[in-house]
Amino acid sequence: MSLSFDGRVVLVTGAGGGLGREYALAFAARGASVVVNDLGADTKGGGKSSAAADKVVEEIRAKGGKAVANYDSVEDGEKLIQSALDAFGRIDIVVNNAGILRDRSFVRTSDLDWDLIHRVHLRGSFLVSRAAWNHMKNQNFGRIIMTASAAGIYGNFGQANYSAAKLGMLGLANTLAIEGRKYNIHCNTIAPIAGSRLTETVMPPDLVASLKPEYVAPLVLWLCHEQCQENGGLFEVGAGWIGKLRWERSQGRILRQKSKPMTPEGVRDQWKEICDFTNATKPTTIQESLASFVTVLSQVESGEVGANPAAAATSVASDAGINPTMAVGQKLPTSSFSYSHTQCILYALGVGMSTKDPDHLRFLYEGHPDFSCLPTFGVIPSQSSIMDGGLSSVPGLNIDFTRVLHGEQYLELYKPLPTSGELISEATVADVLDKGSGAVILLDVNTYSGKELLCYNQFSVFVVGAGGFGVKRNSDKAKPPLPPPNRAPDAVVIDSTTRDQAALYRLSGDWNPLHIDPSFAAMGGFKKPILHGLCSFGFAGRHVLKQFADNDPSRFKAIKVRFAKPVTPGQSLQTEMWKEGNRIHIQCKVKETGEVVLTGAYVDLHGTSEGSPEKLPQGGGLQSELVFAEIGRRIKDLGSELVKKVNAVFGWEITKDGKKAAQWTIDLKNGSGSLHKGPYTGKADVTITISDEDFMEVVKGNLMPQKVTHRRSFKLFHPFWKKYKKRKSLLMSFPDNMKSFLYSVIKAKAPSHL
Ligand code: NAI
Repeated sequence: MSLSFDGRVVLVTGAGGGLGREYALAFAARGASVVVNDLGADTKGGGKSSAAADKVVEEIRAKGGKAVANYDSVEDGEKLIQSALDAFGRIDIVVNNAGILRDRSFVRTSDLDWDLIHRVHLRGSFLVSRAAWNHMKNQNFGRIIMTASAAGIYGNFGQANYSAAKLGMLGLANTLAIEGRKYNIHCNTIAPIAGSRLTETVMPPDLVASLKPEYVAPLVLWLCHEQCQENGGLFEVGAGWIGKLRWERSQGRILRQKSKPMTPEGVRDQWKEICDFTNATKPTTIQESLASFVTVLSQVESGEVGANPAAAATSVASDAGINPTMAVGQKLPTSSFSYSHTQCILYALGVGMSTKDPDHLRFLYEGHPDFSCLPTFGVIPSQSSIMDGGLSSVPGLNIDFTRVLHGEQYLELYKPLPTSGELISEATVADVLDKGSGAVILLDVNTYSGKELLCYNQFSVFVVGAGGFGVKRNSDKAKPPLPPPNRAPDAVVIDSTTRDQAALYRLSGDWNPLHIDPSFAAMGGFKKPILHGLCSFGFAGRHVLKQFADNDPSRFKAIKVRFAKPVTPGQSLQTEMWKEGNRIHIQCKVKETGEVVLTGAYVDLHGTSEGSPEKLPQGGGLQSELVFAEIGRRIKDLGSELVKKVNAVFGWEITKDGKKAAQWTIDLKNGSGSLHKGPYTGKADVTITISDEDFMEVVKGNLMPQKVTHRRSFKLFHPFWKKYKKRKSLLMSFPDNMKSFLYSVIKAKAPSHL
């Protein structure tokens, strides 16, 4: 099918001769209505005549085409567009082509030489394009051509003014391409070469004759056609050849370390490497370009570019690429993560939980009888294996770490997460995929408490520009995102993030300055610091937990999300949920903009009948459980001190309805102290049997410890037992060290709401 311009209205500036004339004729021949603009000036911008434009209009009309003339200077941009509207009622296409030359060596360039060139080329293109913009925007179609020049791209002796203006037009086009994209306004730039009155003084006559303008026009027509989706491109065109240009950037070198300043000598010494284009990257957006700087800053900050500059060099600027055969199956260094209830609460606050909602208290208050860790906290221990820069140690993954993005996340829990612990994470490269525009690294991370597997994470890490190593695009190891059902959601929860949401969330361990520092964010192309993707993930996860699982973490089995767009702290998140059996599909949007930020997401729940995968084998439902958990935390903090002071092992048997329900041992004699749950192999200095209720009465301060001995449930086994027959005085008769300890734990630990 030939390309038709029926119904389109085209303005070609400077169309009285040379290239412009050729475009005007070609557009008209394919059905367009053309405004032939030309001031009729001489090549230096002097004089004025209507003859040039009139002649071309006549030519078009003679062939049955539609055209009108306009004799204004492009400096009167509005008037040119008005001509199009007056004659044809609309404007679809603008070809900024008018031009003059005032060549001089740089030092002889006068103010007028400089200003005239800029006024016609750069300012003229700006004014004409701006006058057309809203018309194009309103009709959701527009095509704009900027005419640059090889003189601007490469420089040319005697054309300082012209080169500057011509490359200025490329900068203008780059931004118009971005601003116009969503209105279907495309802006492209050409650097033509053709014989014309502008070139006849600099080119031999036979070359002027053979480089015909008609060898340039077809590119301009294609770029202006509605079928053409090219936007923001730069093309060299002439003699029947067309080529596209783009930027290339060397891998470069990081010359700064956290503890070592950057010096000019360092730059000198690495100059060759800085300028080496082996494995150069080709950034195409400012985000891509600046993301690398942000990553460098955080790499330097985290010490990843560390003590060993050679290691840094291989991680940042490797000259090998991706070698899947080498990389797949490789293990990253094991990472450990130690946490207490503080981290669980901090995380819950980080993902937007609040005491405003009474339901949230179980995740915010360590004294709550059902105090729990949010299931999505499961990403926190595992991310440290990646944050620590472990990926850079994997052979076969020589990637540019400045170009890594977090694409997707999958988390599966095998039991509810404890509210404190020492966890170990082991990460393995599960697969490496070639997506063309980049590589996807699938990283499987298993997190253990001791030998017990607690949870599994799969990170999908996208490395921009690292594709093309030529293996599979998909992997059966990937946990794919799933689209939601095609119907209205079953539930929608809208929740606001606070201005400080990212500032709070980062305290859970993702310290990337992109989320807190406005200047870092600006360098990444963001107006403000953005929220962590995993923070939105936490919001979505807890929305499902509340809506469909009654806030019971034991019902939360797995979650998958794909990060589609960033969220700004302070925006509201709208989680849409669809229930399909035990799978809840989710889609998360920013309420204010409607932009979808989490896609293909879902949460898998355990069915209610399945119950908790881990009902505590003993002690479940006992109130004293909570107190012992706190005793355990205190021992962790103060253990060594207590061992010195107390030097005893206490056994506790907690009864419920007259039956033994739990057994605890507080060891304040050995090592730095410890708390054991369940049967204890060592020897206790004293063993106390007490009912759960009485225990709590003491804790709440309703029952003096001395009085507890009157209670029926109370029994005490103690070496002094035989000596002190009177039960009443037994507790008082404890050696001082034990007594004060018991008092302090019992007294200090009363959660106020109990
Ligand atoms: P040309 O001189 O034949 O065409 C330029 C036209 O613009 C002239 O008809 C002139 O009267 C008109 N014009 C000048 N000032 C104007 C103003 N203020 N308002 C309206 N019209 C005005 O030259 P040619 O070669 O066809 O150039 C077309 C464009 O291509 C120019 O922008 C030029 O800089 C550019 N270019 C041409 C190259 C070539 O090899 N011919 C090389 C690189 C760029």
